[in-house]
Amino acid sequence: MAAMPPLPASSPILLCCLLLTGALCPAARAARFACNATAPRASTCQALISYAPPNGTATATLAAVRALFQLRSHRALLAANGLPLSTPPTAPAPTPLRVRLPCLCSGGAGATFQRPTYRVRAGDTLDAIARGAFAGLVTYQDIAAANNVSDPNKVAVGQQLWIPVPCSCDPVGGQPVVHLTYVAPAGSSVAGIAQEFGSAEETILAVNKMPDAKGLLAGQVLDVPLRTCGSAISNTAIDRNLLVPNGSYILTANNCVMCGCSSSTWQLDCQAAQGLSSSFCPAAKCGDMFLGNTSSTSSCESRTCSYAGYTNSTSFAILTNITTSNTCNAGMAPMAQPAHSSAFRLEPAWLRWTELVVSLHVVLLCLGYLRQG
Ligand SMILES: *[C@@H]1O[C@H](CO)[C@@H](O)[C@H](O)[C@H]1NC(C)=O
Ligand SMILES: *[C@@H]1O[C@H](CO)[C@@H](O)[C@H](O)[C@H]1NC(C)=O
Ligand SMILES: *[C@@H]1O[C@H](CO)[C@@H](O)[C@H](O)[C@H]1NC(C)=O
Ligand SMILES: *[C@@H]1O[C@H](CO)[C@@H](O)[C@H](O)[C@H]1NC(C)=O
Ligand SMILES: *[C@@H]1O[C@H](CO)[C@@H](O)[C@H](O)[C@H]1NC(C)=O
Ligand SMILES: *[C@@H]1O[C@H](CO)[C@@H](O)[C@H](O)[C@H]1NC(C)=O
Ligand SMILES: *[C@@H]1O[C@H](CO)[C@@H](O)[C@H](O)[C@H]1NC(C)=O
Repeated sequence: MAAMPPLPASSPILLCCLLLTGALCPAARAARFACNATAPRASTCQALISYAPPNGTATATLAAVRALFQLRSHRALLAANGLPLSTPPTAPAPTPLRVRLPCLCSGGAGATFQRPTYRVRAGDTLDAIARGAFAGLVTYQDIAAANNVSDPNKVAVGQQLWIPVPCSCDPVGGQPVVHLTYVAPAGSSVAGIAQEFGSAEETILAVNKMPDAKGLLAGQVLDVPLRTCGSAISNTAIDRNLLVPNGSYILTANNCVMCGCSSSTWQLDCQAAQGLSSSFCPAAKCGDMFLGNTSSTSSCESRTCSYAGYTNSTSFAILTNITTSNTCNAGMAPMAQPAHSSAFRLEPAWLRWTELVVSLHVVLLCLGYLRQG
């Protein structure tokens, strides 16, 4: 049995596309996030997808969302959302829920790698799958193109479709970020979204190649770069690309270490995770300090036993390093001491990010004028 064709007239956005011959209709166009990172450094990364089921659908459980996106671990879903590890799979999923998925850059654009997939059921249309099940994170055109479906009317029940959710691995303004794929709700503004995610309006406009904040459409799929916590992770560690944005945590080193990120310090905050690993966890200490322990050395300075990654070349080992931070310098994030790694990459350059993005924005505006002229 074939699925029904999508109904363009039921969508004001698609209707607008028909009227304007597609010229001004970004929301109905397949969203593509620039993703130029190349191998071996980082053609893949972990991206976040913000999933908010459409109004009127029954509240999903965490287990249902995990199944929809084929997430390997319930804990990873809790971690991405900053939820306590004791939260059961049967708990209702908060809306929106952040889903962490691998992203692959290819040909200058990014899409979630191999996952999620969806098995077509009787009565499904590609449009209903895109806008219903996947809450507008993709369009039916995205799904058709990714699965080489030449005629969207001809999808067979039982057919397995790859759902290519747009994502990116690119640094922004030279800084590593985690890209969040976000569907702009009706009534939202770029300024409001920037504030909600601790970003700048100019950054969101530039990253999404939007000339103007007024151009935001309800349902538009936006690339929202999230600032991540700085760390002392060694470049030779297996988890050297570990990036944790504010409001979430991550389990690493074979579930032996748990790292959080808080926007009050913007420094990775790691501790040994007890009883989560299925195997032996090596000691995580700096001399007599445990991972995550802090001691003050003077009235202004404190030393922390920080996480420096894990290795498994000869045997499984958790690396640590002492970092010092200045607690008197109000308003400044503490600086990690070891200079070998990318320890304080975020702090001084964060201010430059906005500047760079503003100039990018100006260039984009000029290009827009040139094209019109
Ligand atoms: C969905 O429901 C929320 C809260 O009831 C409302 O604010 C929002 O406008 C609704 N969105 C749509 C697309 O109907
Ligand atoms: C990324 O690649 C696209 C197409 O290959 C190009 O137009 C764009 O300028 C590149 N962006 C960056 C930041 O390199
Ligand atoms: C896509 O479909 C076309 C026409 O049906 C076919 O020629 C082509 O080989 C297909 N490509 C892939 C990658 O399956
Ligand atoms: C960090 O996350 C918390 C909790 O999720 C949120 O209240 C706060 O606004 C966020 N701060 C920034 C700068 O994103
Ligand atoms: C040091 O870390 C260990 C293990 O995380 C913890 O049990 C202990 O309370 C910490 N001590 C101090 C002084 O923070
Ligand atoms: C370390 O390597 C050994 C042998 O390759 C492997 O069996 C083990 O699972 C690895 N441990 C971790 C934590 O990756
Ligand atoms: C700890 O920091 C020192 C000093 O910067 C550095 O030489 C060393 O490689 C670091 N150790 C690890 C495990 O990252």
